[in-house]
Amino acid sequence: MSYLDPSRTVAERVSDLLARMTLAEKVGQMLQLNAKEGVDHLVTELHVGSILHASPENVRRAHELAAQTRLRIPLLVAEDCIHGHSFWEGATIFPTQLGMAASWDAGLLEQVARVTAVEAAATGIHWTFSPVLCITRDLRWGRVSETFGEDPHLLGELASAMVRGYQGEGLDDPTAILATAKHFAGYSETQGGRDASEADISRRKLRSWFLPPFERVAREGCATFMLGYQSMDGVPITINKWLLDDVLRGEWGYTGMLVTDWDNVGRMVWEQHIMPDHTHAAAAAVDAGNDMIMTTPQFFTGAQEAVRRGMITEQQIDAAVARILTLKLELGLFEDPRHPDVERQRAVIHAPAHAALNLEVARRSLVLLANDGTLPLGGGLVADADGRATGAREARRIAVVGPNADDQHAQLGDWAGSSGQADWLPEGHPRELTWTVKDGFERLAPEGWTVTHARGADIVVLGPNPDGELFPDGQPRPHVATSAPVDEGQLAEAVAAAKDADLVVAVVGDCIDLVGETRSTATLELLGGQVALLDALAASGTPFVVVLMASKPLVLPPSAHRANAIIWAANPGMAGGRAIAELVLGLIEPTGRLPISFAAHVGQQPVFYHQIPGQHGTRYADLTQRPPFAFGEGLSYTRVEYSDLDLERTELSRDDDVRARVTIANTGSRPTLETVQVYVRDVVTPVTWASKELKTYAQVELAPGETRTVEIELPVAACTIVDAHERRIVDPGEFALLVGPSSREEDLLSASFTVSA
Ligand code: NOJ
Repeated sequence: MSYLDPSRTVAERVSDLLARMTLAEKVGQMLQLNAKEGVDHLVTELHVGSILHASPENVRRAHELAAQTRLRIPLLVAEDCIHGHSFWEGATIFPTQLGMAASWDAGLLEQVARVTAVEAAATGIHWTFSPVLCITRDLRWGRVSETFGEDPHLLGELASAMVRGYQGEGLDDPTAILATAKHFAGYSETQGGRDASEADISRRKLRSWFLPPFERVAREGCATFMLGYQSMDGVPITINKWLLDDVLRGEWGYTGMLVTDWDNVGRMVWEQHIMPDHTHAAAAAVDAGNDMIMTTPQFFTGAQEAVRRGMITEQQIDAAVARILTLKLELGLFEDPRHPDVERQRAVIHAPAHAALNLEVARRSLVLLANDGTLPLGGGLVADADGRATGAREARRIAVVGPNADDQHAQLGDWAGSSGQADWLPEGHPRELTWTVKDGFERLAPEGWTVTHARGADIVVLGPNPDGELFPDGQPRPHVATSAPVDEGQLAEAVAAAKDADLVVAVVGDCIDLVGETRSTATLELLGGQVALLDALAASGTPFVVVLMASKPLVLPPSAHRANAIIWAANPGMAGGRAIAELVLGLIEPTGRLPISFAAHVGQQPVFYHQIPGQHGTRYADLTQRPPFAFGEGLSYTRVEYSDLDLERTELSRDDDVRARVTIANTGSRPTLETVQVYVRDVVTPVTWASKELKTYAQVELAPGETRTVEIELPVAACTIVDAHERRIVDPGEFALLVGPSSREEDLLSASFTVSA
């Protein structure tokens, strides 16, 4: 049997195997079905090529069954290992993708993906649906926390790193898992922030900002692409031949595998109403070049019927199946199906090195947004061998308050443990693996300090969904989350704790019921009793620090802006509470920078920094357009000054590099890691274009008092725009090189150069 013979080439093995498969087996191979209700029927009767959302028990069972099938084609077991091996009890759960993006550190994210792959591979998983390459445009969208933020360049850097990390040394590396670039493409261009709404987006706009990160990872060998739910110009992505054939497989030469999102094929029938039945939907999906069909069991009969009726050919099915089998062979699954390995799980799941990396990422993900000098607390504390603060001159009393101060689930965020997608972890990850903020202060505050805690407020009250418990496809609808009333008892307890303390750390934000697919929010306000809590804290007279532990940028009330310091913590993962306590105590330095801008009001959107100039003025009648915190911002515990931006040459051709130097000086008394950001403005463009765009950046360590010269090198070829004919070009003429610590105009030094025609 040559397809079982590893000495044959992959192509030979694929064609031999295809020749032996029945049409039903081929169509089944294209199916990826939900393992929730058990796997026997899926493997033995529907001949599925892949399963997802399988409990550890179902993974074992499915592997066993696949080994007994007629052709013994191994399964691809897929899971949403989004920020860690999310649904494996006790695995390492990192900050969310948005939180990690605040580190701006591609190397760190590559390590995160590697660790995730090592943990996932030991449990029989071959494929993760990560990373997300959608750019955030509307903060109301429920999936902001899954993105790397708003900037295509930063996103491309971080996504590329995560793909490398997941796929390791190559697919035949037994610790490699397939990465997925998702959701291709334009899914985040929502209307009203509503999930999966029709994306009103032109091809030029797609090519300008949405496609570049996808193109990068396609060319770099990301093994799979997942197609978004939405339609554009009336065409669901699943059947968008321009995007799939002309652009992805044509222009970019992509040879990897395409997977639909959840029931995209069925949705064309029951939700988008553009196909009369599953036969037509299956035919259209195959015709557009989809390979793996996620959770549309009706595809099994639909596609076979479509072949019988001549709506598609068996050769088209063969082409898709060939791509799936090629990946399975490249992974080496026919020789080693990579079953779960209990011994290896013991060695790698949440291994000490993985926990240490998680702590480092959590530290790097924190962004200090405001500080009047109150932080770091305790002036000169250092960590002892156990990490506890020591060296305090006097005993202090800290009150840790707020609904997210001691909430493991808010800390882990979406796609983790009990966030709703997996039903075998109802309680989430073992509590003892997560340090909440309360834990952090209790364990790290110096001996003799007092740490008190009060919840202070609730966020939401959950009620039944008036539209019914289930969507038409049988998926559960989320509960309706309404803002919780102010609880006077809780509030009084928190105020009493505050009055009795030298410093209050108020941990506020959102909760899992306000985050994720189908959970976009209409407002960005802090819900429940949280504003009342912050108002009361501000009135208490005790210095207070606001820690915003929120899946996405929220609107802060005036009382929060009166805080002595504000820290944005995203959903910081298992080690987050420890990192936050360390930051407040001054055991570490704040180094995170915003990968996304905050809005002052929900109606102020969009607030992303690379806006198109030309609108009338820069304000609303009742509000400015200035975001309270902008992309790239983040404070240190020291001051860094930028000077002497100097271009080596100012007259360049398209083949040259822009070379410049800038001096940065740490004029304070604490060390830091400075993120030197380099933006480019094309001064006059043939079509309207972003006012500036991040093109590169460098992270530079600076000791107290140290001055360094940073060399900047940027190919002119990167200084592009997309013209009216959708072509990405370097438009000759004048450019500005803008260098500084954030995207704010007033933070940037500017130097001019010209590019000749
Ligand atoms: C739907 C989500 O949109 C996608 O991101 C996820 O990977 C799949 N479901 C599988 O859970």
